[in-house]
Amino acid sequence: MGGTDPTGSHYFDAEQAAPSRPVRYVFRGACGDITVESDAGVFSHGSLDKATALLIGHINNLDPGSVPPAGDLLDIGCGAGPVALALAARFPGRRVWAVDTNTRAVGLCAANAAANGLTNITACRPEECPDGTSFALVCSNPPVRIGKEALHSLLLHWLTRLAPGALALLVIGRHLGSDSLQKWLVAQGLPATRLSSAKGFRVLGVRPAQG
Ligand SMILES: C[S@@+](CC[C@H](N)C(=O)[O-])C[C@H]1O[C@@H](n2cnc3c(N)ncnc32)[C@H](O)[C@@H]1O
Repeated sequence: MGGTDPTGSHYFDAEQAAPSRPVRYVFRGACGDITVESDAGVFSHGSLDKATALLIGHINNLDPGSVPPAGDLLDIGCGAGPVALALAARFPGRRVWAVDTNTRAVGLCAANAAANGLTNITACRPEECPDGTSFALVCSNPPVRIGKEALHSLLLHWLTRLAPGALALLVIGRHLGSDSLQKWLVAQGLPATRLSSAKGFRVLGVRPAQG
């Protein structure tokens, strides 16, 4: 889902004009199946996005001991919530923030958390996440379509709030500039490495800035 829908809206616009058309899909989380209700006007309507699926594979395999004890978890650009739901299932004792600028997406994510019995997710607009919150684990299929400058400032806003020892996992298409984004992150002082590559997508692992 790349550009505009038939109503002229982008999936990242705050308000969606497209009439609601809910469609459910199911994916495998760390502790069993997770059901997601998706909707028109929200990224990946009808099925789990391929890049998101790759990221969720990493989340399901994360060793909880590898995530520092201090700090919350964060999904930047939650859409209907698959990444946040996978995080909440893998780390049931941790608070998961799921932020999105799209109001319909935030509502869907909150409803999906409740429907799956995952009570540790807070779905909200980005500005509703308190400024002082720091993050032990950030996972995102980021909104590359908002443009390079906006993407860079979005990533700097959140990744400068990584707790000591924290990890951020970002999935990005090679055709959408994963390799140049990795170089840019390193140039910002954020150590970024390629953790995996499959089906044209890369998963980057990013660590907090040193010193
Ligand atoms: C590629 S989609 C991923 C959605 C969902 N995580 C998934 O994997 O299905 C990126 C999401 O980022 C959201 N987004 C765009 N700009 C944003 C911003 N400034 N802050 C937070 N989310 C944003 C979009 O509305 C969209 O839902």
